Amino acid sequence: MVLGPPVMAAEKIELTVDTSKTGAKVDRNIFGQFAEHLGHGIYEGVWVGPDSTIPNTRGIRNDVVRALKELKVPNVRWPGGCFADEYHWRKGIGPQRVVSLNPNWGGVIEPNSFGTHEFMDFLDQIGAEAYVSVNVGSGTAQEAAEWLEYLTTAQQTTLAKERATNGHPAPYKVGYLGVGNESWDCGGNMTPDYYLSQLKIYSRFVRNYNPEQQGKLQMLKIAVGPGGGEPRWTEWTEAIMKAYQHRQWSWDMNGLSMHNYTVVRWPPSYASAGFGQAEYAKILKSTLDMDGLITKHSAIMDTYDPQKKVALVVDEWGAWYAPLPGSNPGFLVQQNSLRDAVLAALNLNIFARHADRVRMANIAQMINVLQAMILTHKEKMVLTPTYHVFKMYVPFQDATFLPVVFDAGTYTHGDISLPRLDAIAAKDTAGKLWLAITNIDPNQPAEIEVSLTGTTAKSATGETLTAPKVDSVNTFDAPTTVAPKPVSAKVAGGKLAMKLEPKSVTVISVEQ
Ligand code: AHR
Repeated sequence: MVLGPPVMAAEKIELTVDTSKTGAKVDRNIFGQFAEHLGHGIYEGVWVGPDSTIPNTRGIRNDVVRALKELKVPNVRWPGGCFADEYHWRKGIGPQRVVSLNPNWGGVIEPNSFGTHEFMDFLDQIGAEAYVSVNVGSGTAQEAAEWLEYLTTAQQTTLAKERATNGHPAPYKVGYLGVGNESWDCGGNMTPDYYLSQLKIYSRFVRNYNPEQQGKLQMLKIAVGPGGGEPRWTEWTEAIMKAYQHRQWSWDMNGLSMHNYTVVRWPPSYASAGFGQAEYAKILKSTLDMDGLITKHSAIMDTYDPQKKVALVVDEWGAWYAPLPGSNPGFLVQQNSLRDAVLAALNLNIFARHADRVRMANIAQMINVLQAMILTHKEKMVLTPTYHVFKMYVPFQDATFLPVVFDAGTYTHGDISLPRLDAIAAKDTAGKLWLAITNIDPNQPAEIEVSLTGTTAKSATGETLTAPKVDSVNTFDAPTTVAPKPVSAKVAGGKLAMKLEPKSVTVISVEQ
């Protein structure tokens, strides 16, 4: 008999949650989505048209709606992105749609068959709020003001009557207004001063007239913010926030947008599938930069807005990889692997830790584009690993953040070191305690022991998401390679004990 090296008992990782020390509300809006007219994000992904053989309701795919309802999507940002600064809303209403082009994204035909009414119908079907980005780049404040009047007025103006003729007599609700998109770049390469002059005009004149959205229930206006941490963007944040601090009664803003993709380098060149541990570690290391970026811009915002009235809105985030071979590079098509599930959990945890300032975020993008929830091909649909994380995190929507203390050490691959574990906790609106724990290490399981102070745990159950490989994906033929499975924790002496699988995301609720 050959004896191997002695088997060491796995060291337990201690986590402590003090349920008496509560933090900020984890706003449900940080689980927002972004749906741009880009590739098959809208056309085929959401919209197939009423005459399609794919089951639909007024042209909107039933399978996609069913899946998205499970995510309790709080809001959807639309119509872009860069597309928004070339979008003219009148082309997308009425019986005769204007056929135009989408120069940003592949130069393809834009049929405008998915326009204002179809977007609002889609939101109604999935139960989400509207985050409409208006055209500051190539449009005018008047055009945007008329769009909002068309959408929201209850009074019988000519535009309201036109809306009624087009099928919707009642005013729509628009919860969030994006004033431009990346105005420092694809939105018109503006200087901060030039953008500020536009912001003041749009903020003043683009009004929401819906009687139910006045006073405290007002539409929130989100200004263009930074796209990184370099001086051009810290200067941008400084300029906008300084102007906000000295604003006159005539204009206001409620949010500052921030865009940050996990890309490592431009143009995006990392593969979305068919990679190993080196790329797993590299991408996850890069995604953790989100924390420093939020901290940097929050610090600037604190200088001018110590009461944190202005939210930092991370309305474009996610992994941006090389286009899939054979796909139109302008369509930003990529696979979605277990790595993306871990990446999504790490970012959601970062947002939750910054919940006092980060009150909205929108992953890019909802369907068939970049880090999508859902991939479709004709009548087929598959849920991605990222979808499953969003679903597992639903209980964190509007929950109260609870600090978790732990030191799990590091996972190292080559010259890259990452924290081995990440965890957040929160109390939901019904008072139930939830824990989300990610074991980043792709090789080692993690034996954890959670001490809960201020409460007594009776049992804990939930779900875990993992897969055989770091680059495991779901495909139309094998849709459940990465799918959550039930787990439970042992409770002994008031502590929860469980073993987390390598490269896994686990969410459990605690019965007290
Ligand atoms: O999400 C794709 C693009 O990335 C958006 O249109 C733009 O805002 C950003 O640069």
